[in-house]
Amino acid sequence: MNKKINKNSEAVGEHPVITADIGGTSLRVALVSQDGTILHRYQGETSAVEGPRVVTERLFAGIEAVLEESRLLPDGLQAISIAFAGIIDMDRGIVTGAPHLPGWENVPLKEPVEKRFSVPVFVLNDADAAAIGEYRYGAGKGLSNIILLTLGTGIGGGIIHDGKLFTGSAVSAAEFGHMIVKDDGPACTCGRNGCLETLASGTAIAAEAKLRIAGGEKSVLTGMTGGRTEDITAEMVHRAALDGDSLAEAVIERAAYYLGIGILNLVAVFNPEMVIIGGSVAEMGELLFGPARAMVMEKSFKAMVKDLKIVTARLGNDAGLVGAAACAFETAIR
Ligand code: BGC
Repeated sequence: MNKKINKNSEAVGEHPVITADIGGTSLRVALVSQDGTILHRYQGETSAVEGPRVVTERLFAGIEAVLEESRLLPDGLQAISIAFAGIIDMDRGIVTGAPHLPGWENVPLKEPVEKRFSVPVFVLNDADAAAIGEYRYGAGKGLSNIILLTLGTGIGGGIIHDGKLFTGSAVSAAEFGHMIVKDDGPACTCGRNGCLETLASGTAIAAEAKLRIAGGEKSVLTGMTGGRTEDITAEMVHRAALDGDSLAEAVIERAAYYLGIGILNLVAVFNPEMVIIGGSVAEMGELLFGPARAMVMEKSFKAMVKDLKIVTARLGNDAGLVGAAACAFETAIR
């Protein structure tokens, strides 16, 4: 199934929308105007381990904080649009599953938010929202066939095919993070082994660094965490690699290798005009994309990659917040 996104915004009213981006680690809320500008924002922790009830309360608190800051009442909103890191039944606004948010199995999200704020509510996958954002306002503007990957706590995916969001048959599709790229690879939160997100997400990068240090390898990361290697993050690995730390460099090289395999497969299936990489890990830039891009260019069918561009998300980490707004503003996606 494809959800139509209009190339030109078909605004259905004057009001801004509140959007939220709920990931495994952070919960962000924003007030977004019709041209995709973020007017106010709120950021908190998801506290995913506390389960759906607490996360929903945190979402309410974030929405209320943004309403207060922007001096708006809910009836001054066009809609509330929520990008969520899980497999979403968009028609019913239900989270059917979420590998990084325990307890989110068949949990209604649209209904409680609609009840609380009495405005139309949309729920979509976080990476689908980012794909819409980049297509509508970012790196993919003017193109028709785009693949987007978000690299963060997990790995998300979004497909814009012929100018439409591809959503599969019943629930959101493009679960790129759960493509198996190494069948004897690390255990994934989804229950399988060797999913792309166990090898190239921020979580995977930090985990691989910890594993190597536990195995006796030396790295500046030990000093950076005062010996508490359990505190290592992907961002620290990035900094260490920039300083020439060989363990950090090897860890990023490994992530780039598997990212390359993932993109290679996606290019073979979709033959997109552009592959956009977003999420917090995308800040590693060429260190990560350089080797991945080289692999894709070298191993793909030449005609398929002749004009292919592999780029970073232009909207950075805001792609999901802005894309969720586009989803609400543009009538046809509903
Ligand atoms: C989830 C996706 C989500 C991605 C990024 C994955 O583990 O399965 O639904 O888009 O993480 O948050």
